[in-house]
Amino acid sequence: MVQSASQQDVLEIVGRSSLSGHVKIGGAKNAALVLMAGALLCPDVCRLRNVPNLADVTKMADILSTLGIRIQHHEDILDIDAREISTAQAPYELVSQLRASFFAIGPLLARYGVAEMPLPGGCAIGARPVDLHVRGLQSLGAEVTIESGVVHAAIPGGRRLQGAAIHFDYPSVGATETLMMAATLADGETTLHNAAQEPEVVDLANFCRAMGARITGAGTNTIRIVGVEKLHGVEYSVVPDRIEAGTFLLAGAITRSEVSLSPVVPEHLTAVIAKLREVGCTVVSDTPNSLRVLKADRLTGVDIQTQPYPGFPTDLQSPFMSLLSICEGSSVVEETVFENRLQHVAELQRMGANIRVKGHVAVIEGVPLLSGAPVEATDLRASAALAIAGLAADGTTILQISVTWIAAMTILSVRCRHLALALPVRP
Ligand code: UD1
Repeated sequence: MVQSASQQDVLEIVGRSSLSGHVKIGGAKNAALVLMAGALLCPDVCRLRNVPNLADVTKMADILSTLGIRIQHHEDILDIDAREISTAQAPYELVSQLRASFFAIGPLLARYGVAEMPLPGGCAIGARPVDLHVRGLQSLGAEVTIESGVVHAAIPGGRRLQGAAIHFDYPSVGATETLMMAATLADGETTLHNAAQEPEVVDLANFCRAMGARITGAGTNTIRIVGVEKLHGVEYSVVPDRIEAGTFLLAGAITRSEVSLSPVVPEHLTAVIAKLREVGCTVVSDTPNSLRVLKADRLTGVDIQTQPYPGFPTDLQSPFMSLLSICEGSSVVEETVFENRLQHVAELQRMGANIRVKGHVAVIEGVPLLSGAPVEATDLRASAALAIAGLAADGTTILQISVTWIAAMTILSVRCRHLALALPVRP
């Protein structure tokens, strides 16, 4: 059982829980944030549906509001009115808190010919530079300089961006999204080679296409964009969150419970489901948009390497490690996407996990049971990892979470409580 403690920045998790029930999966955070930036491309009103109610979405709305964009949020609907933009300069205090807000640089530049964006912040999971975004925008003809931590981008002579062939050194999700958005309003054709193939990139392409953009190849490593004169307002529903869905599958697996979820696109979780099955879990898809993990008996360790999509997602590496920490035998987890994304290991160790780290590799020797402990999360996904570890642990886990992750974790808390209520909780 998960309980929100009276203090807002702490979750108290009573362990050895058995979960049961059905979880409604929300819209993808990472898609919603970039669609909000994408709405700046059209001088019109866009209505986004299925927007998750998270602190990051509110923060993104605050940032866009400082640019003069009018935003109305009602339940899971977000109306973004970008008919008038008063400034193309985003404020440092807000951008530094949310890396995704940097993605607005592409639409601002494409529509206004100028953008000023402070270097972004975000989760404490590594350096997370923006060189691929910057080099890509330069290839499209923008002049880009970085002064005092602010990226200044402008199209010389007040012209439009010019289509170009761009090859990414690495299939960065953010850079692919920035360049795709910028190219929708460029003169001529842009080709993005070695592009990211994540479902959130595809969702952005679908959103832009609905607004009138000409984009093909999203979901492959080569995306072609033929620039158009203007885009128009649209109503669009955000894709289900594959990371949230994966987290709930893991919550079921680690507590040896049966949990079902929908809506979800099962193909988006192919790599995760394959690893869950390798561990010994049964995952079934009763309908095209649902998944169910069954009560597991014996769980054994597996090796995981995080990779760009369709590989195993880095965002589920830490919750999966919580599961591996109670699997029989040894597992090896290699984090290849971010250089500093094993910070949850120290906290899992406090809960009794047997994990050794060398560089970006963690070797896990499974223990029969974790024990509840006071733990602290460093980023959103680590919070989720520690929450599900706490669900399976003996005793109570007190999870300190930064204010940034409160909304997301409250949702996890409420949904888990709902799950737990469906069946008596075994102490
Ligand atoms: C997005 C997701 C994040 C997810 C990640 C990888 C959002 C808001 N966040 O982050 O949840 O974990 O994809 O699936 O959508 N890199 C560079 N130069 C750049 C850009 C990136 O070197 O210009 C490096 C990064 O430091 C990192 C790797 O590329 O090591 C992957 O980053 P990227 O795919 O860009 O992730 P984000 O878009 O930041």
